[in-house]
Amino acid sequence: MVGRLEGKVALISGGASGIGAAHARVFAAEGAKVLIGDIQDEMGQGVADGIGVTNSGGQAAYTHLDVTSEKSWAEAVNKAVNMYGRLTTLINNAGIAIIGGVGAQSQEGWDKTIAVNQSGVWYGMKTAIPEMLKAGGGAVVNISSVYGIIGSPDMIAYHASKGAVRLMSKAAALEYAGQGIRVNSVHPGIIDTPIMKSALTSGPEAELFMDSIKGKTPLGRFGKPEEIAYGSLYLCSDEAAFVTGAELVIDGGWTAQ
Ligand SMILES: NC(=O)c1ccc[n+]([C@@H]2O[C@H](COP(=O)([O-])OP(=O)(O)OC[C@H]3O[C@@H](n4cnc5c(N)ncnc54)[C@H](O)[C@@H]3O)[C@@H](O)[C@H]2O)c1
Repeated sequence: MVGRLEGKVALISGGASGIGAAHARVFAAEGAKVLIGDIQDEMGQGVADGIGVTNSGGQAAYTHLDVTSEKSWAEAVNKAVNMYGRLTTLINNAGIAIIGGVGAQSQEGWDKTIAVNQSGVWYGMKTAIPEMLKAGGGAVVNISSVYGIIGSPDMIAYHASKGAVRLMSKAAALEYAGQGIRVNSVHPGIIDTPIMKSALTSGPEAELFMDSIKGKTPLGRFGKPEEIAYGSLYLCSDEAAFVTGAELVIDGGWTAQ
């Protein structure tokens, strides 16, 4: 059986958990050869082992990747090319969320958020795109957030980083449009993963807050990680050959209001 990503080789950052792990499973099921990169080595290896080789000829492996280090990115990109012969697809998914508004955000929280969510996306594109050019073209999906489009009162660093990812994607899309590389951003609403729980359950009124978020979502529930991966699947497939510099919102209708 062939898949929608047959012939593609994908590097997925933050693939040990949540949305990134869902990308690895969906992409391999659709025929892609996948390299998962993360700092949670045991979990990441477990995701890759669970995928193995798929019916459509996809497969998955794991490598240690700290997205805040350009050197670590270079090693992961080399590993993907050495293993699979080329690189066509990059999912910049690794991310962290640290609660804190303008006054409350610590310097450490700010620096770490920008390093992972924003600089990590730049390093990823900087190291992967040259290999994608050698492969004759490719697609990048940068995972932003609805919080890269709208504000909230208590996550200043996260908003700064995710807003940056949205515009970095458009800038890179324009830079590489003539060279066969498409770059798009995906903007999840509230998705049921560990990051959401760590961010939203840290305050005293966490449950009320979770309910209020659910209440803001017209479809009336949190999203599932796979529902984000299916959006990226389209953007990384040849079906999206005319799509670049776009932002795909997958939020149950939250930002339509
Ligand atoms: N869950 C949501 O509600 C939601 C909403 C909007 C956007 N997002 C975005 O989706 C992406 C995935 O988040 P998730 O919900 O799956 O969270 P998650 O916590 O389940 O997964 C994030 C992964 O990133 C990895 N990571 C963190 N720092 C890293 C680093 N320095 N190098 C490499 N990997 C690192 C973690 O180890 C983890 O495996 C993030 O960019 C997040 O901001 C999530």
